[in-house]
Amino acid sequence: MTANNGSRPVLMFDSGIGGLTVLREARVLMPERHFIYIADDAGFPYGGWEEGLLREHIVKLFEGLIARYDPEIAVIACNTASTLVLADLRAAFPNTPFVGTVPAIKPAAERTRSGLVSVLATPGTVKRQYTRDLIGEWASKVHVRLVGSERLAGLAEIYMRDGFVDEAAVREEVEPCFIEQDGRRTDIVVLACTHYPFLVNRMRKAAPWPVDWIDPAEAIARRAISLLPQQRSGPREPLLSEPDFAVFTSGTPDFATRRLMQGFGLKVL
Ligand code: DGL
Repeated sequence: MTANNGSRPVLMFDSGIGGLTVLREARVLMPERHFIYIADDAGFPYGGWEEGLLREHIVKLFEGLIARYDPEIAVIACNTASTLVLADLRAAFPNTPFVGTVPAIKPAAERTRSGLVSVLATPGTVKRQYTRDLIGEWASKVHVRLVGSERLAGLAEIYMRDGFVDEAAVREEVEPCFIEQDGRRTDIVVLACTHYPFLVNRMRKAAPWPVDWIDPAEAIARRAISLLPQQRSGPREPLLSEPDFAVFTSGTPDFATRRLMQGFGLKVL
């Protein structure tokens, strides 16, 4: 048995720290795996990028990542990227399985009782054709409100690094998710940006009434494990194995970011 049980790493990708919400679930399900976390902080936030430019940017970035780390699987732990570039990545790197993160519209449509569902996401994700297609395919009988937030991903970054959150700003961003219509109320909010689960307790506090907040992180981790060969070995031996690590595309994560990564068991390269 080698230090990493003979397997290649699982690459987890996001524009920032949001993918950590998926990483923590993946780690629980696959303690024997070696993880590499990539934060494209030089490109953050992805929400406002022009689609063509973002597509090119991510495919180019992956040329380097695949060549360098040769992952067994790549998890795009970012809705804004997945809803745009997943098909391009699969076409460009046919030997790498990709798992995407896309708005959990299907489970929301299955679970809603009131028939009023909101999808809270970046401005990029709400305008994607991919998102519209998901609604057409799975939620045609449900009223889905798409709420694009300019600020929440950035607020989550600040919260996780510095422990500070502007509660009034969270309230303003979340408020449009809540609608009342013919005596019915929104009963589900889909967290369609991987940064948002970090703020969910603040969102609950800001909500005018209780709703179910859907965080797809566990489902994504389960999808990833289903695509990997079963490993019979136990957890990796921490002292012998290569540590999980994080790479920031800016090359200059600050002290608070390094500290946060350490908290997630990631060494910053
Ligand atoms: N975490 C990303 C997502 O799931 C988006 C953050 C951003 O770059 O705006 O959509």
